[in-house]
Amino acid sequence: MPNKVRAAITGVQGWVPEDRLTNADLEKLVDTNDEWITSRTGIKERRILRTPGWATSDMAAEAVKGLLAKTNTTPGEIDLLIVATVTADMVFPDTANTVCDKIGAKNAFGYDINAACSGFLYALATGSQFVANETYKKVVVVGADMMSSIVDYQDRNTCVIFGDGAAAVLLEPRRDGTGIQDFVLRGDGAGREFLHMKAGGSKRPPSAETVAHREHFVYQDGKRVFKFAVEGMVSTVQEILRRNHKTIDEINWVVPHQANMRIISSVAEHLHFPMEKVMLNIQKYGNTTAATLGLCLWEYEDQLNKGDNIVLTAFGGGFTWGALYLKWAL
Ligand code: COA
Repeated sequence: MPNKVRAAITGVQGWVPEDRLTNADLEKLVDTNDEWITSRTGIKERRILRTPGWATSDMAAEAVKGLLAKTNTTPGEIDLLIVATVTADMVFPDTANTVCDKIGAKNAFGYDINAACSGFLYALATGSQFVANETYKKVVVVGADMMSSIVDYQDRNTCVIFGDGAAAVLLEPRRDGTGIQDFVLRGDGAGREFLHMKAGGSKRPPSAETVAHREHFVYQDGKRVFKFAVEGMVSTVQEILRRNHKTIDEINWVVPHQANMRIISSVAEHLHFPMEKVMLNIQKYGNTTAATLGLCLWEYEDQLNKGDNIVLTAFGGGFTWGALYLKWAL
């Protein structure tokens, strides 16, 4: 009996801007210091997109172009391209269609998924279905966010956390048992109170007043988000392990959303999982929202072996959260 078809990640590529915003730079903008930022968040620097005229779609396009070159794929072969983002180029049209245009993916359709820091996980799960049910052969999933466009650099509670970046994966069918095995996705809209942008949507359209009140930036109740993030990631990882009859010792890597080093170590501690096998890049990039998981896979790719059991987990605005279990295919 041949194995069932699964969607496997057959390529991964990241892209980050060159400009760095260090903790020392932030000390000049707000009342903060390197010691506070490092000990409370684990972040040393973030990348900021400063190329004139560039937006989220340009970072996404760079990541996808690199992915196509690496996997010997032509733009015309892409069936579907999904972009996870909270910083779309425009309210409409969606960023995915802009990316398709910028890379010349003439045969693809695309759409955006807005699930904040869980966006990549939601998009990966969604895209994998088209491959696993054999509707499409090549699906590209991108996580991209230009957080610097919605961060208030006068607010020390948020400006130290976020950075810009993009990462893309190619999903293709595999029958050898590798690929995406299962996912657990959750959401609770009541969490919107603790993490949101106040204005700019239909609830509170942009006006001189919303601009004057600095309502077009990320607002968060950090302490509340912290608590829910740990609980959400731990519980969904535990659930996915149970469902797949795996113990934590059988997992080779945990890839957590890079929100805060203390959240990550607390998750690892609750799971009794060694930090050496937790993918980390928060110190260099901060929280790049939908891009963190893909950027981690990209940077750790050399250390991964075919058949490795990998669990991705994330938590973000919505609230949204979840875990996804895959067997590495490369
Ligand atoms: N530099 C110096 N002091 C700062 C600061 C900064 N950058 N930011 C906040 N503070 C101050 C606060 O004003 C507060 O001062 P007060 O006690 O005089 O009011 C003090 O530090 C402690 O703030 P607190 O909010 O208790 O800190 P914390 O330990 O909870 O850390 C976060 C704050 C934001 C780093 C933390 O809550 C966090 O990471 N939350 C999750 C955020 C997240 O990941 N969101 C993304 C979506 S998943």
